[in-house]
Amino acid sequence: MNGLTISRVVLARHIAGQPSHDDFRLETVPAPDLDEGQVLIAHHWVSADPGTRSRLSGQGSYAGALPIGAVIDGFAVGTVIASRNPRWAEGSVVVTGGGWASHSLSNGRGFIAPVTRTDVGLHHWIGVLGVPGMTAWFGLQRVGAIKPGDRVLVTSAGGPVGATAGQLAGGWGAGQVVGVASGTDKAHWLTGEAGFDAIVDWRAPDFDAQILAAMPDGIDILFDNVGNAMIDRLLPLMRPGGRIVVSGQVADYNVPVGQRHGMINTDRFITHRLKMEGLVVFDDMRGFAAAQDAMADMIMAGTLKTRDVIGDGIESLPGLFCDLFTSGAAFGRRLAKIG
Ligand SMILES: NC(=O)c1ccc[n+]([C@@H]2O[C@H](COP(=O)([O-])OP(=O)(O)OC[C@H]3O[C@@H](n4cnc5c(N)ncnc54)[C@H](OP(=O)(O)O)[C@@H]3O)[C@@H](O)[C@H]2O)c1
Repeated sequence: MNGLTISRVVLARHIAGQPSHDDFRLETVPAPDLDEGQVLIAHHWVSADPGTRSRLSGQGSYAGALPIGAVIDGFAVGTVIASRNPRWAEGSVVVTGGGWASHSLSNGRGFIAPVTRTDVGLHHWIGVLGVPGMTAWFGLQRVGAIKPGDRVLVTSAGGPVGATAGQLAGGWGAGQVVGVASGTDKAHWLTGEAGFDAIVDWRAPDFDAQILAAMPDGIDILFDNVGNAMIDRLLPLMRPGGRIVVSGQVADYNVPVGQRHGMINTDRFITHRLKMEGLVVFDDMRGFAAAQDAMADMIMAGTLKTRDVIGDGIESLPGLFCDLFTSGAAFGRRLAKIG
């Protein structure tokens, strides 16, 4: 298409264990001509998401394995620069699952949605107004059935999902909001800016004693982003009728399924009538617009704080992604600014 080229990051090999730069390859290809119904989107921002890891080993997850040579998954916010689809005019600003690329093609089906508020920064549309923020909102509201007074514990509290979940819980009247995160920088930001009552570092040798001291009355909602070992460790603190929201398993994504931690404290489910439920956030898509509008208002009012780790260009995405699995790395939504 008129000499336009697309830069993109593809999977160079299937990944075993911790991801590294060598697992990815940067390539440049000519932009194709559009078929009827297609649009070409120029990306402004692209995200690095921990959940993508589960598609990169060759075994796949609910979303299926990515083949070698495929563009890596990521969300993008961009502008339609060419259109053969009457629904998406040139100039439309959209959110899409366009992947780690400077541009993406869409046939107008699948995940493509209009950006409806431009008073907030565009990057928020793949951050707190995108999948991470929606996961926090619907994880707490629909799955966790949060109610005023609930004592809420959020793991990986420094990430975009966890930090948003903690702030929403506080705003919805939680009796207590405690986070698990590593390092003093995260603890300062989460307690100072994001309103968490306390942060406990999961790497501390006396982690269990610290959690007990921080939540002596126990946990009503455990919003877990980390995985089995953490849930098993916290199960003995769950209160009667408690809910465990299985949001993500970032500590388990690099571990083969058969070698993952099991759970032994499951008697608590019986004695304390606990529930544990996972979510795939796209199941809640019908509710996204209302949640996004409410959260955009909160950003504008300064009652919902966000943090970003911003890389320069498509080529920064492998590094942003690999650091997701390094505890204590810079924290916030990991985004590449394109162009
Ligand atoms: N269910 C859904 O539909 C859905 C949608 C989107 C995202 N998610 C999930 O939500 C979770 C959070 O996503 P996010 O984007 O906000 O990422 P994130 O929490 O920022 O993930 C990176 C963080 O995970 C922690 N971590 C990494 N390795 C760890 C380990 N071995 N043990 C304990 N913690 C470890 C680190 O924090 P510390 O340095 O503080 O340890 C790291 O900074 C992810 O699991 C993601 O897959 C689910």
